[in-house]
Amino acid sequence: MSTTYTSYWRDAQRYLTGGVSSNFRINPFTGQPMYLSRADGAFIYDLDGRQFTDFFMGHGACPLGHNRPEIAKAMRQVFDVGFFAEFDHPLTLELAKKIVRHVPSAERVRYTNSGSEATLLSIRLARGYTGRTRIVRADGHFHGGHDYALPNNLATFTDRDNPGDRVSRIVRYTAGVPETIGETLYLIPWNNIEVFDKLARSKGHEIAAILMNPIDYNNGCIGSSTEYLQAVRRICDEHGIMFILDEILSGFRTGISCAQGYYGVTPDLSLLGKALTNGVPLAAIVGKEKIMAKMMDPVDPVIAGGTFSGNLMGCAAGIASLTIMEQPGFFETWHERVDTFYETVQAIFDEQDFPAVVQGLGCTFGIYVGSREPVRNYRDMVESTNPALRTALFRKCMEKGLYFHTDFTVSAQHDGRLLAESAEIMREAVRKAKETL
Ligand SMILES: Cc1ncc(COP(=O)(O)O)c(C=O)c1O
Repeated sequence: MSTTYTSYWRDAQRYLTGGVSSNFRINPFTGQPMYLSRADGAFIYDLDGRQFTDFFMGHGACPLGHNRPEIAKAMRQVFDVGFFAEFDHPLTLELAKKIVRHVPSAERVRYTNSGSEATLLSIRLARGYTGRTRIVRADGHFHGGHDYALPNNLATFTDRDNPGDRVSRIVRYTAGVPETIGETLYLIPWNNIEVFDKLARSKGHEIAAILMNPIDYNNGCIGSSTEYLQAVRRICDEHGIMFILDEILSGFRTGISCAQGYYGVTPDLSLLGKALTNGVPLAAIVGKEKIMAKMMDPVDPVIAGGTFSGNLMGCAAGIASLTIMEQPGFFETWHERVDTFYETVQAIFDEQDFPAVVQGLGCTFGIYVGSREPVRNYRDMVESTNPALRTALFRKCMEKGLYFHTDFTVSAQHDGRLLAESAEIMREAVRKAKETL
């Protein structure tokens, strides 16, 4: 570890809690935070100027690449407008028009500053609109950092004793989250329509909404299916339950219409963030006009907004990001490169008889280390993972200049040559990791 890093880290711990600005900033493989001096395209540079090919891309917030010139230019133009808070501006509307054009569920838009704020607001809106309290969540899905989202929020904290025929138990609340929160939730095994159907039949009258991710990239990469999502849609319609898709991480990865377009199922509300602006703080709740209108109810509105909602920097970045994504063939060319990379890395694992599986959908992927079998659910994932081998592999990758953190993205700026070089580095890392077996 370099002197610059060590002294920065020591100093940071005297001023920043834990030396970082977010709990999620500790790298799971090194146990330490990474500090950057700058980021550009597919690369990040640490405090010593060491270059890494980045497969984290800001927690999936920058799939178009770091420091995209088009986005930087759009933000510089905001300085000409004069940056301010608490007012809308034509840029606010321009972004909303683009979102409505591309995202199937978007009839109306309301901006928030973060994804967590958007998922929290969607829960309040569903409750306010339906007059019911309970929220159904998929056991193990991540929806950010607020109290309703934290119980059982990752695969490692799920009710794995659930045989798949009942509501799941909350196995972890997280310090500071009261157990009364659990009384407002039902957690169910994901991709299991029978449990949701049974629950809706018996308790539908108390359920305001079901909230889930259409593709789970927080636990690697596990997809859903059109059949499952269609069945959820049907049950929601039968019981007056609101269907909410969290597309904070899945949005704009499989295409500009997000995962809902990919699966062809339209929810009542959706949450967008991260890729919407490619690294600039802004998120949004979008949905059916009549539901969204509850926010402006003249008698008893669902309060939604704040000083920085719809901030101009975020709106400018969002317009620039969507303009890039609107280019004909943009996703196709990108995904072709990405799929070749997934295949190449899988072939490297197979050739070296290394127990690991690459699962990717669009530009975001997971690598499950410990087994050669595909991972379809959290039980598969937790039971088959070899944590020591996984850590060994990704530590070796990082020593050799590839950066991995919690979820993995191949940005639009990772060109074919860089991906081929990265795969070769992984080949070497696999060889080294095998020595630890
Ligand atoms: C699926 C999902 N929902 C919500 C969030 C929360 O978003 P934010 O970090 O912007 O609060 C995240 C963040 O990683 C996420 O992956």
